[in-house]
Amino acid sequence: MPTVIFQLPDGTERKVTAASGTALMQAAVSNGVPGIVAECGGNASCATCHVYVDAAQSESAGPPNDVEDEMLDFTASERRPTSRLSCQLQLSDALDGLVVHVPEEQV
Ligand code: FES
Repeated sequence: MPTVIFQLPDGTERKVTAASGTALMQAAVSNGVPGIVAECGGNASCATCHVYVDAAQSESAGPPNDVEDEMLDFTASERRPTSRLSCQLQLSDALDGLVVHVPEEQV
């Protein structure tokens, strides 16, 4: 099962392990990671599950899908090249050790 490290805006981190195929957002919410609001429940329609994938792993995580790409224009914190909606990022064994940064604001 892949493990993901969430780096929080206050400088602390949370390590979460979830089954492959789980959405990164679901892994965060199920484990009480603060800062992942996920108002729409994973439908790529709220942009409150925004994360920045660590630059070194951005390629492994892949690019946003088309709907996600549009929603990323509505994030509360600035959009960056490594921005993803965590509800659209499926965990896999290949992403074991993934590091994501939770932005300052989601709403
Ligand atoms: S949970 Fe709403 S866009 Fe991801």
